[in-house]
Amino acid sequence: MTESAIDTARPHLAVMVEELTKAGAIRTPEWAEAFAAVPRHVFVPRWYEQETNDQGIAVWRMQHLAHEGRLVRVYRDTTLVTALDPDTAEKVDETAWTGIPTSSSTLPSLMAGMLEDLAVDDGHRVLEIGTGTGYNAALLCARLGEQRVHSVDVDADLIDTARRRLSSIGYEPHLAPADGRNGYPTEDRFRFHRVIATCSVPDIPRSWIAQTHPGGLIVADVDLGIEGGLVCLTVDAEHSAYGQFTTTGGRFMAARGDARTYPRRERTPYADEAGTRPTNVTAADIRAHYPFRLLLAFHLPGAELVYHSDETTGTMSLQLQQSDGSWARVPLAGDRLDTVTYGGSPEIWQQVEAAWEWWNDADRPGQDQFGYAREPDGHVAVWHLPDGRRWDLRPA
Ligand SMILES: C[S@@+](CC[C@H](N)C(=O)[O-])C[C@H]1O[C@@H](n2cnc3c(N)ncnc32)[C@H](O)[C@@H]1O
Repeated sequence: MTESAIDTARPHLAVMVEELTKAGAIRTPEWAEAFAAVPRHVFVPRWYEQETNDQGIAVWRMQHLAHEGRLVRVYRDTTLVTALDPDTAEKVDETAWTGIPTSSSTLPSLMAGMLEDLAVDDGHRVLEIGTGTGYNAALLCARLGEQRVHSVDVDADLIDTARRRLSSIGYEPHLAPADGRNGYPTEDRFRFHRVIATCSVPDIPRSWIAQTHPGGLIVADVDLGIEGGLVCLTVDAEHSAYGQFTTTGGRFMAARGDARTYPRRERTPYADEAGTRPTNVTAADIRAHYPFRLLLAFHLPGAELVYHSDETTGTMSLQLQQSDGSWARVPLAGDRLDTVTYGGSPEIWQQVEAAWEWWNDADRPGQDQFGYAREPDGHVAVWHLPDGRRWDLRPA
């Protein structure tokens, strides 16, 4: 008799569940039981691990379960990248590629944290956006029963593979190849008690709110440009979604409309350098403090945070840039760490300094100290829960 997948996985699952519970990611017996019931390796028979090759290039090296010692790696608390954008992927050698990941099996502790935040109850119907490997859909099936689970992915091939793997361990949830930003593809006025998204969106799509029962919850990663984060929102009868950023930290790949690839971004030419001056906010301050980056995203909606390399000196900087070509940058190393250089409007760095002052005066609040709301007219606002200070991110 061949060993079943769950028998193979059992010793590894026991260790993983214990570790996720110790870390505070699994918080309830129901989710401990669900995690213990799903063999992750069924959903991730091969994956890519990043390494630097002998030419100093960061590449994705293909790993197979069949390789010696690999099974144990699937049960570690790591994200496993499972697909690369074919439009950017370049084969580097027989088993390695460069390229941008388009699908992965999410970090188990992040998945557990989000599933706990989702606060499901027996009988709840759940929609997952981003089926990927199908592992999270399997966890939902184990917790709620397959009939209660709906999941969509923009990539039809991923859906087919996930369907086969789910079925191989006895689960047949409702899966659909579709752009999940439009919710679940159905003509009916179909409603879910919970929506969980494992790809990020710039704000909560109207369709998710429309497909959620009043009183239901949405857990998703909102990408605000410079930074983003997980929000847990309640939908009300007027079709608002309001709540707050969660203590569960983590980010997801962006939702895309094309199954294969990400849209190419047009980059506005940088404005000419306009000045240099001392500043009290360094690159280290921005890199070290996630809640501060989130606050910067509130102050500078639509701006981006990138690494910039100076063509002539090779100096690496942390750079904020806006769609009008304005930019401001601070070096990552050297003896001018407290100097900002900018082009276009000087306002970007003034906003950074104002945000830094406010954040320190407010005792450095964490992300869960900020509320988030999307109104029925599309207006999006965030606010500091203790004192109500508000930032309007998107007008109606
Ligand atoms: C991090 S992976 C999901 C992990 C998955 N939940 C699992 O357990 O393996 C993100 C997934 O979102 C999918 N995705 C990206 N854009 C999407 C969209 N517009 N609608 C639905 N799925 C999308 C990607 O194809 C990818 O499979």
